[in-house]
Amino acid sequence: MSGTEWFAVVDSSTRSTGDRGGRRWWRDAAVYQVYPRSFADGTADGVGDFAGVLARLEHFTELGVDAVWFSPFYPSSLHDGGYDVDDFRAVDPRIGTLEQFDEIVKGLHARGIRVIVDIVPNHSSDEHVLFQAAVASSTGSPERALYHFRPGLGENGELPPSDWQSLFGGSAWTRVPDGEWYLHLFSRHQPDWNWAHPAVHEEFERTLRFWGDRGVDGFRVDVAMMLAKDMTDPLPPWAQVSAGLPMLQGGAATAAEAAFEPGSNPIFDRDEVQDIYAAWRSLFEEYDPPLAAVAEAWVPPARRARYASAQSLGQAFNFDLMAAAWRKEAFREAIDQNLGAAAEAGSSSTWVLSNHDIVRHPTRYEPETEGLSPTRRRRIGLERGRAASLLMMALPGSAYIYQGEELGLPEVLDIPESAAQDPVAGIEGVVFPTRDGSRVPLPWDRSHPSFGFGAAPAHLPQPPWFTDFAASVQRDDPRSTLSMYRRALRLRRLMDIDAPLEWTDLGAGVLAFRRGTVLSVTNFSEQPVELPPAPVLLASDLSATATLPPNTSIWLGRLD
Ligand code: NOJ
Repeated sequence: MSGTEWFAVVDSSTRSTGDRGGRRWWRDAAVYQVYPRSFADGTADGVGDFAGVLARLEHFTELGVDAVWFSPFYPSSLHDGGYDVDDFRAVDPRIGTLEQFDEIVKGLHARGIRVIVDIVPNHSSDEHVLFQAAVASSTGSPERALYHFRPGLGENGELPPSDWQSLFGGSAWTRVPDGEWYLHLFSRHQPDWNWAHPAVHEEFERTLRFWGDRGVDGFRVDVAMMLAKDMTDPLPPWAQVSAGLPMLQGGAATAAEAAFEPGSNPIFDRDEVQDIYAAWRSLFEEYDPPLAAVAEAWVPPARRARYASAQSLGQAFNFDLMAAAWRKEAFREAIDQNLGAAAEAGSSSTWVLSNHDIVRHPTRYEPETEGLSPTRRRRIGLERGRAASLLMMALPGSAYIYQGEELGLPEVLDIPESAAQDPVAGIEGVVFPTRDGSRVPLPWDRSHPSFGFGAAPAHLPQPPWFTDFAASVQRDDPRSTLSMYRRALRLRRLMDIDAPLEWTDLGAGVLAFRRGTVLSVTNFSEQPVELPPAPVLLASDLSATATLPPNTSIWLGRLD
């Protein structure tokens, strides 16, 4: 297939998916995640911002995504990359203004692209005005009741109230000057809200309306399974609380190891967390079309339906593909399980290969085979990464694409300690390993000092090899990862969104499925495989025609 034919296929795609203006737009949406501080810097201070986003709106149109999800851009002291929010209803002045946010919403809507913002309801930052007031008040005060304050153990209360651990390492309790302790399941700068208090509900409903009224189309709900807590004394030991939790194991659940019945762990995935989302759902339904929401819920697939149902948030992330090794069986199991779970919830599945919390997927897929040069390793990782992306974009449900993924960016593994920003950097055994390497500012232009990110050195150092991945290099190259994403997203819009996935056996090491008129084939084996005769729609390796090389995906069939 020549480059010209390749483009000819793509340019014929003009139809869009069904019911995109209606309530179900999110069911098959391709959603692009912007991590604002690392997307584009328009104000020459080395940090990404809204001015940068406004200057790059065309990127989203060229790529062909249906929605853009903005990771937190709220005022923050940046103890957790913005997930420590000082004020949920404002924009960090280093990122921009509310007026600029409105402009972004307008600009994206004018391009037919929806907007999702991140809501972080498990915790505030320790700079939040309500937490500051709580610290300044005293034991038993109404201010403290909004968070989880309690006395310590030991003769003088000098020991934390329990042995619970923060997911970022160390105790989950920090002491304030008058001797009480507060709970923070993430860093000590992120005190957990007390969702048993009605004022916390009111505070968040105000926040949801604030953004809903500004025109956002939906929310990504941070650690959605952690809000409800049973803080009845005595607090059970951490070994029990943490047993069998998918989040702590970085992926699939091991329900058999759990010390609590599903729904009754004191801090994770309690049944009553759904009462919060039922109330939010009623609020979302006041909008036309209703607001969408996707839960970041680290729960076993069998529990995901609760978050993804129409009475709850409507959709939930499934991180199983992200946790799957580069093996046919691992991918197949993740897909089967999640399509089953989505059907049960009456929702659609979500698919994620990379995000701001995890090593980028081309790097994850680098082979460990001895004797391979680093260059060869990286090459194979990239081939597999592209193959996995193409496979993902053929699946029923919505695909979440993390900024830089469309450039095939590998993880930056050698960020010097002196430049590290992630609070978990260097801590052993935490849930999230250091995440800076996936948050390095994007390379837009090869011939520019910060690769076109902005006019000042980027806030995390960009490696010299970013030059090969710059958008400017890839834009007109039909073989580039960027071109592959653009074509795939356009073809995806032609697919029959209701077509179910049907597995097809094309031999060992080959994962193949049909969706309507499209056959998606991925070669996980080490040998080239024969392909059935059919027109090629798109491949992750342009040389694939009659046979499919290892580490490659192809879409065969017709779309018209
Ligand atoms: C999940 C977010 O994705 C992660 O970046 C953050 O550190 C934790 N939640 C805490 O908010």
